[in-house]
Order: sequence, then C-alpha cells, then structure tokens
Amino acid sequence: MTRLPFIAGNWKMNLTVKEAREFAKEVADKIPATDKVEAAICAPSTHLETLVSLTENSNLNIGAENCHFEKSGAFTGEISPLTLADLGVKYVILGHSERREYFFESDELINKKAKAAFEHGLVPIVCCGETLEQYEASQAVDVITKQLKVDIAGLEKDQAEKLVIAYEPIWAIGTGKSATKEDAQKMCKAVRDVVADIYGQDVADKVRIQYGGSVNPTNIAEYMACPDVDGALVGGASLKVDSFVALLEGGKLA
Ligand code: PGA
Repeated sequence: MTRLPFIAGNWKMNLTVKEAREFAKEVADKIPATDKVEAAICAPSTHLETLVSLTENSNLNIGAENCHFEKSGAFTGEISPLTLADLGVKYVILGHSERREYFFESDELINKKAKAAFEHGLVPIVCCGETLEQYEASQAVDVITKQLKVDIAGLEKDQAEKLVIAYEPIWAIGTGKSATKEDAQKMCKAVRDVVADIYGQDVADKVRIQYGGSVNPTNIAEYMACPDVDGALVGGASLKVDSFVALLEGGKLA
C-alpha cells in the first residue's frame, strides 16, 4: 500500500499575520511536486485567510489548529468548521495534547469535532499520545488505543479512509527529546492496528499516520524510513521557510 507522505506544520500560537504573509510568499514556489509529498501549514485562525489566498496556486495546503463541533451559534470565541471550509482551509488539527491539557478537551469532544470536520469537508488530523509517566510505565499503546477508540468512533468508511492521525508523545513535544525511530514505528503501527480493529485493514492501510515531537530536518529521514510512519506533524521546525522546505525534501540542513 503506497500512501502519499504528508508533512504538516503546526504553528501553534506563533508568528504575526505579517510574518505569515512573508512565509507564504517565500514558500509558495518551493513546495515539492504533489506526487512526492503533501505539505500543509496549520496556523492560527487569524492567519488563515491570508495564507489561503497567498498559496492558492501553490502545492501548499492550509489547515486550522482547532474547530468547534457546531457550524454556528452562541459559542463566543469559537471557530466554525463551516467557516474554515468556506475560507478554503483543507485540514484541521484536533485533540492536540496542548488542547487536551490546557483546554480540557476530552476524547468525546474530539470525536464530535472530527465528525463535524468531515461533515463540512475538512480533513481532521487527530492527535494522540502518552505522557512521560505513561511511557515509562509501558502504557503508551494502551493510552493511545483508549484515546483513539473514542476519538475516531462512528465515522463513515469513506471518512475514516481520509483520516490523518498524528502520534505525538507528549514528552517529545517542544523538548528536543524526539522518540527513537523504533518507538515511532511501534506506536504508529499500534495506531494503524486500532484503525484496523474499528474499520478493517483495508481502511487502516489507507490512513496516513504522522509522528510528531521534536521533528526537524536532521531527524526526519529516519522517521520517514519507518513503514508505518507516513509523515510528520512539526511544530518549531515548521516556522522558518528553509527548515520547512528541508523537511519536505526529506531533511538535511545542519
Ligand atoms: P514540536 O511540536 O515539533 O515543536 O515538538 C510538535 C507538535 O506539537 O505538533
């Protein structure tokens, strides 16, 4: 089964709109051909319209970092999946560990958001991952299995096939302590097994699974060589054009 590698940047709450504009202008014609790798930048909602309009004719897709499960209503400060789709946004990160930890997002909530995202034509990048304590207690597989069984429950088969799932051990995010390639492979395979249990092996073989957590141009190649790692979700190293492009090109830069 060949799956198109997918590298997505997660800008989190970084860069001004002016900086995003400069990034988009500079990166637009540097994205490799779409038959080799798919590229996306997931950015704060305030930056999305600018990014979409500046990358319209490029190979870069734009994603959001969160959305609500309702399309409209009295939800002050929230982001509608309908509006994101209307803007031309393609992906939405859901259930990132920072949202689980700081904004108390539950697996049930993430599941509602995933369904809403698909309903409005967005593709969710659903995140899962264990804490250091859980990792050290050898509970990682159990933790992500429990998360995903709820996060991705009840999707239509054609939706499940399009899913992107990011395995991100919390202890590796923003710490420079990336997972070993053996751990990344083992955990991404465990993610695929959960999808297979729920939706069957044919669906699981189509789902793209990313590793995330301190990925950079010097370590990306070893993850991409793992059979069940189909790409990466990248925070810090996606904020600069040179580094983001190097990730798409398979790595390098000192
Ligand atoms: P990092 O972040 O690459 O800066 O570790 C990854 C993420 O949180 O998605």
